[in-house]
Amino acid sequence: MKRTVLITGGSRGIGAAIATLLKKEGYAVIAPTRAELDLKSDNSIESFIQHHKAARIDILVNNAGVNNPQRIDEVSDENITETMQINLIAPVKLIRAVVPGMKKRKWGRIVNISSMFGIIARGRQVLYAATKHGINGVTKALCLELAPHNILVNSVCPGFTATDLVLRNPPEKVKALVAEVPVGRLAKPVEIARLVHFLISEKNTYITGETVLIDGGYTCR
Ligand SMILES: NC(=O)c1ccc[n+]([C@@H]2O[C@H](COP(=O)([O-])OP(=O)(O)OC[C@H]3O[C@@H](n4cnc5c(N)ncnc54)[C@H](OP(=O)(O)O)[C@@H]3O)[C@@H](O)[C@H]2O)c1
Repeated sequence: MKRTVLITGGSRGIGAAIATLLKKEGYAVIAPTRAELDLKSDNSIESFIQHHKAARIDILVNNAGVNNPQRIDEVSDENITETMQINLIAPVKLIRAVVPGMKKRKWGRIVNISSMFGIIARGRQVLYAATKHGINGVTKALCLELAPHNILVNSVCPGFTATDLVLRNPPEKVKALVAEVPVGRLAKPVEIARLVHFLISEKNTYITGETVLIDGGYTCR
């Protein structure tokens, strides 16, 4: 059966790689643009949900995310609101919207794209780490609630991946990040996409509530 996937942040980076791979693998992919679904705006989320009320969403990939690193003494209110809203509140609202249909059909897969900073932390990552640790908590609590309904929920926790989020840094900073990665390079977005593909597929029948690291060994240090 052709399953339908809703993925946020499918315009570029990891989300684009996931959308491309899943389309190639025969999934129907709904990948709203920012104009169709702006996770910063409660109104946009609500109207997107209303618009897709009748749509059959078998799989949700909460991928869109932001990271604006700031030290605690420079953290702005705007950054607090935006990071919490996009990385944590919006994913929970989308999950709440798709779960009733999944329950009715007794089948569902949810993948939250978290981060290795949902497991460990670094300075200037207070907000990012808070939201990524938070979404991993959401994954675990939902695993317990939804497993009886045959809905599997997992977090994927990438390390440094070759997208705008990392490559917007000066080249010397990127080089310094890579130097800390045991495999000696950034992850390619498609490498993250392949893991997501497995977790949402019919082949995954028993992994749920997991926070799966895919970081080239970074967190082993
Ligand atoms: N790259 C890494 O090293 C890395 C590592 C660990 C975890 N991650 C996580 O992986 C996910 C994807 O990151 P990425 O590296 O692919 O990032 P990216 O290249 O910066 O892309 C971010 C995506 O999120 C979307 N987005 C941002 N704000 C949005 C909003 N208000 N409403 C709707 N969509 C919005 C963007 O859409 P627009 O094109 O419209 O801006 C874009 O599609 C994020 O959750 C990130 O935290 C990334």
